[in-house]
Amino acid sequence: MGHRRSRGPEVPAPRGPRSQGSPLQHHVSIILTPGMTIPEEDNLLECLLDPGEKPVCAAPLAGWTDAPYRKILRQFNVRHMWIPFVSTHAVASTKSPNRDGYVRQVLEEGGHVQIFGNNPRICRKAAGILEGAGAASIDFNCGCSVRKVHKGGGGSLLLKDLDLLEENLKAILDAVSIPVSLKTRIGFHLKDDKSGIEACRRAQDLGCAWVTLHGRYARQGFDGTADWDWIARLVDELSIPVIGNGDVAEPSDVKRMFDETGCAGVMVGRAILGDPWMIGDCRRYLEDGTSRPSRTRDEIVDVMLEHQRLILEGWPPPKGVWEFRKHVAKYLRGFAQASILRNMIVRCDDSEEVERMLREFGEGRPPSAISG
Ligand SMILES: Cc1cc2nc3c(=O)[nH]c(=O)nc-3n(C[C@H](O)[C@H](O)[C@H](O)COP(=O)(O)O)c2cc1C
Repeated sequence: MGHRRSRGPEVPAPRGPRSQGSPLQHHVSIILTPGMTIPEEDNLLECLLDPGEKPVCAAPLAGWTDAPYRKILRQFNVRHMWIPFVSTHAVASTKSPNRDGYVRQVLEEGGHVQIFGNNPRICRKAAGILEGAGAASIDFNCGCSVRKVHKGGGGSLLLKDLDLLEENLKAILDAVSIPVSLKTRIGFHLKDDKSGIEACRRAQDLGCAWVTLHGRYARQGFDGTADWDWIARLVDELSIPVIGNGDVAEPSDVKRMFDETGCAGVMVGRAILGDPWMIGDCRRYLEDGTSRPSRTRDEIVDVMLEHQRLILEGWPPPKGVWEFRKHVAKYLRGFAQASILRNMIVRCDDSEEVERMLREFGEGRPPSAISG
């Protein structure tokens, strides 16, 4: 479409149903230009622009926040989440086995999507397809360092070539009218490299709606601690919203991140695994300082069994049971006897057996041998 999304208070409110009579119209109009629309069902940008909102988002976690877990998160009223990243090549190519599955998820959920890639032509095509499927926004991943992402020159590798990163981002922005965002890290190499910060500056200049900064360097992986100071510096410098990310383990960390950095939103990653209560607890803590209630075994088992059921809808046994196993360890973190139970479940291919073992655990009984 090629329209520019320059910022500026003179820009009129966006077209579309959401702009009509919305109390947030003024905030939204600050960074939206005509033709850039936000789908009806999504309001992350509005929340980010409203200082009273403090949105707490579920991070994209490839292999974990898949469709079944996203359904669980929605049941827990998590309002902001992403379908984890997909390669732009996969989306753009009719021959890719991943294409249909990903596009189907977008058609069904219409949520925020995340892409990685390094070819502007392919990025443009993929972005157009995902917008056509109903994506609420498109996030461009420039922070990930896993082999599959680096192999195609995408993710954090683009921090080594900011002009190429910019070309890709521009291609995505030109292709769609939904919000486009960037998720990145401080830089690639430790300490001396602030390419991620520069990437965020460029993202703002190009017209991105927001940026997410994980306060680590790509080379760090998940080592060390996230440096929130860089999130604060970015907030000071940019006028588009910044979502802060990295090392939120407790609801009090979310409050600390908002207070210490001034970020517009917080993204919680690993702490939501096996813990769909986390984001709601964070929101309650922000509202009135309520500390986390402890959950009964029964309560946890009910959620686990619902999670297994949802996984089995997509992957019949034994695959679905295998898929569920990795989540079991996360749900049972910190419980006595959890390792015995985990080891038993890891050897079991039968979903009903898994259910029986989990029910016993829920009732506080010691794990008993696999029957049959
Ligand atoms: C298993 C796993 C999968 C991840 N997948 C993605 C992904 O698909 N896209 C992305 O931008 N980041 C991904 N990340 C990074 C997280 O979104 C987040 O930035 C990181 O975990 C830091 O947040 P935390 O300290 O709250 O976990 C992943 C991280 C993990 C541990």
